[in-house]
Amino acid sequence: MIDLQERVNSDHDTVIIPLTPKDLEMNLRALANSFSVNEDFLQSEFKAEKKEIHSFFAKKKVILMGLGENPKIHEIGKFCRSLAFSQRNKLAKSKIAFVLNDSFFEENVLFDAIESLASNFLLAFYELGKLKTENTDKLNIEFAGKLSFVIDTKFYKNVEKAIEKAKILAEVQQKVFDLVNLPANVLDSVTFSEKMQESGTKYGYEVKVFHKEEIEKMGMNLLLAVNQGSHIPPTFTVMEYKPKSEKKLPKVALLGKGVTFDTGGVSIKDSNNMYFMKCDMAGAAAVAGALEAVARLKLPVHLFGIVPSTDNMVSSKAVVPSAIVKSYSGLSVEIIDTDAEGRLILADGLGYIAKNIEPDVIIDLATLTGSCIMALGYAAAGMFTQNEELAQKLYNSGQKTGEKVWRLPLWEEYGASLKSDMADIKNLGAPVAGAASAAKFLEKFTQKHSAWAHLDVAGVTFTDNEFGSQRNATAYGVRLLIDYLENL
Ligand code: BES
Ligand code: ZN
Ligand code: ZN
Repeated sequence: MIDLQERVNSDHDTVIIPLTPKDLEMNLRALANSFSVNEDFLQSEFKAEKKEIHSFFAKKKVILMGLGENPKIHEIGKFCRSLAFSQRNKLAKSKIAFVLNDSFFEENVLFDAIESLASNFLLAFYELGKLKTENTDKLNIEFAGKLSFVIDTKFYKNVEKAIEKAKILAEVQQKVFDLVNLPANVLDSVTFSEKMQESGTKYGYEVKVFHKEEIEKMGMNLLLAVNQGSHIPPTFTVMEYKPKSEKKLPKVALLGKGVTFDTGGVSIKDSNNMYFMKCDMAGAAAVAGALEAVARLKLPVHLFGIVPSTDNMVSSKAVVPSAIVKSYSGLSVEIIDTDAEGRLILADGLGYIAKNIEPDVIIDLATLTGSCIMALGYAAAGMFTQNEELAQKLYNSGQKTGEKVWRLPLWEEYGASLKSDMADIKNLGAPVAGAASAAKFLEKFTQKHSAWAHLDVAGVTFTDNEFGSQRNATAYGVRLLIDYLENL
């Protein structure tokens, strides 16, 4: 353990020290010496178990943060967010130094460890209660400047860079939290597209919003059908980030389901917890976040983000089950269930990508089926792809970032029940393996693209947790996509 007396700046009032059980006795001895506190007490009090916190005061506030045996980088981040959240009113006013012990942060993971700690620390100050009138504390202060990391000097040069990246990712994730958490009367298809436009203008990437008239002209009739019962027009947003480069850059298209509220339409949902369906644009929010993050991090990739957006409403004008609609790609679709609306708007999105962008890789993210939640719970997104390499890469990024994916099959069997007597395909299959038949439906619109992956994120983009009890956004997908794109 480095000499803390010497290294912790005199104006830091709070020191956070992540520790694992490895070399703990030695580290606590060094700590006790540095801060002139009773060693025996520390040794008996703190075992560095997962999420264990021990604080004491010795001129500064010292917080020992237990990480457990062999913690993963994303777990360290999670613990940090938890700790910071539980004490955020106090920490908001503090000047904080993290002390990293190089006995368990080896050089190759140090950058990621600092980035993970810093960004998760910042995330803890996200304000879920923005719309409360008596907004208790204005916590969203500029933090990054107040965070520092005390580590062995030979690694010191990368700290600023890691904090800068952490700041960008935390800001983007907070924006995604807002997009997903804001209710449908505040964030609708139009205001959503405006937010994407603002981001593009600010961070230097193209954002083109197609409005209803253009959507009609282009023949995106599936998007229009879902929108039919609404008084709010649909939007179709195309974002493009293209850095200047001598080399030919990989071309990737991300597509997100942007249903700002899903009542189910005429095939109406049970009202029990229907309000969760304000989160039905979480796939699109992750795509918007990924575009902003990639532009701000200046990653070497030619990236597109496609967001078809509408709500799915009930009214006398709403599309009815049995309607047969011609998609953008030309296939006719029989709408059996208006609650299977996500695949309809994504089909037009995929059609647009296949025809106008021709990317090397297509990844779509959608809160698509309850069936996927039945299969995988809240632990992982369902991943559907026929491309082994893409599957492996997304799997690896999921393991690294903690935004996990688990591959589910795209076998022919699952497409069989989508056969329609009257149209090319119907939007509802057999009442089993619903996540897979939804994926098969989408596959029809990819023009047999060789590197397409569909991520069903219904179970992972919003959840109950220590930060909120009424389902709140996780920003799932942002880190997964950034990691995937960084490793292209
Ligand atoms: N938005 C829902 C899926 C969903 C459910 C997302 C729970 C998040 C949490 C989607 O549009 C939907 O309604 N899917 C139906 C499909 C069915 C009608 C084939 C479902 O999963 O029940
Ligand atoms: Zn639905
Ligand atoms: Zn939906």
